[in-house]
Amino acid sequence: MVFAEIPFKARIELKDNVVTVRGSKALLDKVNLLKVNHGKDPRKWPKQSVATGEDILINEFILKANSEFKFCYNHEELCHCRNVPTEKVFTSIKNGCFKTEDVSRTTMAGTGCGACRQDIDQLIEQFNKP
Ligand code: FES
Repeated sequence: MVFAEIPFKARIELKDNVVTVRGSKALLDKVNLLKVNHGKDPRKWPKQSVATGEDILINEFILKANSEFKFCYNHEELCHCRNVPTEKVFTSIKNGCFKTEDVSRTTMAGTGCGACRQDIDQLIEQFNKP
């Protein structure tokens, strides 16, 4: 099984070669459009231009389906001052925090010594590309 999710908000899952989606109507519409235009196999779907966190979620799902998903930042914990996991920072980005200040406000990452702010920037940059 392959899945990508925004906890308590949205989830895309591939199980037994069937893609299921839970989330907003906009997310359902985007995934259905990918199925219609590119088939039911998510490994053949093109990555999306990013306008929302749900676009990042779709791209995460496509990368995971192709076994290509990997954070540019390679450690489980991104902010050591505030003990913030990389996954939590990524979730805040998927929730629409596209600026370091927004990520810091929602996760506390980057609010100590500041050494991790460039890592937050890089993570935002990594997932804001189509
Ligand atoms: S390591 Fe994140 S603020 Fe210090």
